[in-house]
Amino acid sequence: MPKIKLRLQRVSDAKRFFEILNSPNFTYFNVKPKSIEDEKNWLKQNSKRRKNNTEWNYTILFDDEIVGAIGIKIDYHRNYIGEIGYFVDDKFWGKGIATKAVKLAENICFKQLNLKRIQIIVHPKNKASKKVAIKNKYLKEGLLRKTIQGRSGKMEDRYLYAKAL
Ligand SMILES: CC(C)(COP(=O)(O)OP(=O)(O)OC[C@H]1O[C@@H](n2cnc3c(N)ncnc32)[C@H](O)[C@@H]1OP(=O)(O)O)[C@@H](O)C(=O)NCCC(=O)NCCS
Repeated sequence: MPKIKLRLQRVSDAKRFFEILNSPNFTYFNVKPKSIEDEKNWLKQNSKRRKNNTEWNYTILFDDEIVGAIGIKIDYHRNYIGEIGYFVDDKFWGKGIATKAVKLAENICFKQLNLKRIQIIVHPKNKASKKVAIKNKYLKEGLLRKTIQGRSGKMEDRYLYAKAL
């Protein structure tokens, strides 16, 4: 298993996140910051998100190098449900980094945030992400029809994977 750690995101992570997120290989991921400044502004809101218990966002470190991010979004109406989302630098794909990061984030969800249920919502063609969910023993519960607005503006389907205590 690689040496993976999570720590809370910092505004100084902006440059690396900008580089990673602008990869042309991120086919099934909709977040693309327009500039490092934009990314900094987004990161600056993280403390407010934690204070309001809406989002808990972490940086993934591999041997102390920034290689990605993983976040937990708390359901607005049911604050015992969280949704995990993640990305990894394409130069580091296939090393088990996302799989381990989900395991660590899950621990935060159940032990620190007292969540009862964790969801992972995946593009039907995103084989790597489905694999990450399955390797962490998330169950495929079904297809969410027309649930997310895609880049084209059209509403798109997603698979729902989840783990419940
Ligand atoms: C999804 C993502 C985070 C996976 O990161 P990673 O660190 O490479 O993931 P892991 O190495 O832990 O596991 C990926 C698994 O998918 C497999 N995989 C990758 N591409 C695949 C493909 N096209 N078909 C089938 N399996 C594939 C890998 O072989 C690996 O499985 P294995 O360990 O059995 O070999 C990464 O691809 C990414 O950042 N993608 C862009 C952002 C994104 O789509 N995020 C998910 C949003 S839900």
